[in-house]
Amino acid sequence: MVRLFARWLAQEHGNPKGSGYGSLYEEHIHKHQSLGLSPSEARQAAVGGEFESIGKLERDCLLALGLNEKTKLVDLGCGSGRLARQVVSVIGPEGSYLGLDVSKTLIEEACTQIKGNIGNIPFKFQVIQDCRVPCEDNSMDLLVAFSVVTHIDLEDTFSYLVEALRILRPGGRMVVSYLSADVQDHWDIFLNEGQIPYEHRSQQVRNHVFMPGMLQYLVERAGFKIEKDFRADEKWIPLTEPVLLFGRDIAVGDPAYLGQACLVLRKV
Ligand SMILES: C[S@@+](CC[C@H](N)C(=O)[O-])C[C@H]1O[C@@H](n2cnc3c(N)ncnc32)[C@H](O)[C@@H]1O
Repeated sequence: MVRLFARWLAQEHGNPKGSGYGSLYEEHIHKHQSLGLSPSEARQAAVGGEFESIGKLERDCLLALGLNEKTKLVDLGCGSGRLARQVVSVIGPEGSYLGLDVSKTLIEEACTQIKGNIGNIPFKFQVIQDCRVPCEDNSMDLLVAFSVVTHIDLEDTFSYLVEALRILRPGGRMVVSYLSADVQDHWDIFLNEGQIPYEHRSQQVRNHVFMPGMLQYLVERAGFKIEKDFRADEKWIPLTEPVLLFGRDIAVGDPAYLGQACLVLRKV
């Protein structure tokens, strides 16, 4: 069944499935700029802010899960390079980094963020439009989607899960962060989203909150094995350097949390 779906994904279906998301994000960046931010600041803010600190948290989360200099990494919904900027010094010439996003503007910013730092490391970015991951079957070690499935429709999340399973090598992992209704802050986001008038919902970047078990059901239907499921408020990330997050210093040795729940999946 999943294989049939993968074949269906590989066919053409009129407008590229992700093209609407791209224009929503361009508008989202524009809104930040109209608040008085410079173009670069707006591109950094558009992915959620705390550019430096969250990037370090994302990197440390992956280091804790085994990211190393040889990892072949796909950063799905890489945005303006929050993670790319931090993994430039981790991934070596035997590894690789591929950043994918629907927003050309954010990818341009990501390129600027890492410019001059990549030496001979295979670092690439690509604009995508169709819920496909442009990699060979069984070729990559790790695919991450930080704060991406929170902004897309469930059906598109499923398409990406099927694609992720295809491109990962056996034993490879996917890390996906998400908003989960079982923590109060995320439940509040859910209630706020409900305040958006129906006719405006398709015209802005949405924050989708998962009900407990929902994403887990999808990942298992796609064929992944769930290795870990960290709660949004669970302190599980060992920091490799101190970070200043929302005005609070977090020291090395104090485990940190991402603020989103995090599923760690394995292709068996
Ligand atoms: C909240 S930002 C997170 C960016 C990055 N992962 C990070 O943590 O800094 C969400 C990102 O998902 C991208 N995005 C939105 N819809 C997408 C889709 N259908 N496919 C791939 N990326 C998408 C957006 O352009 C944006 O860069």
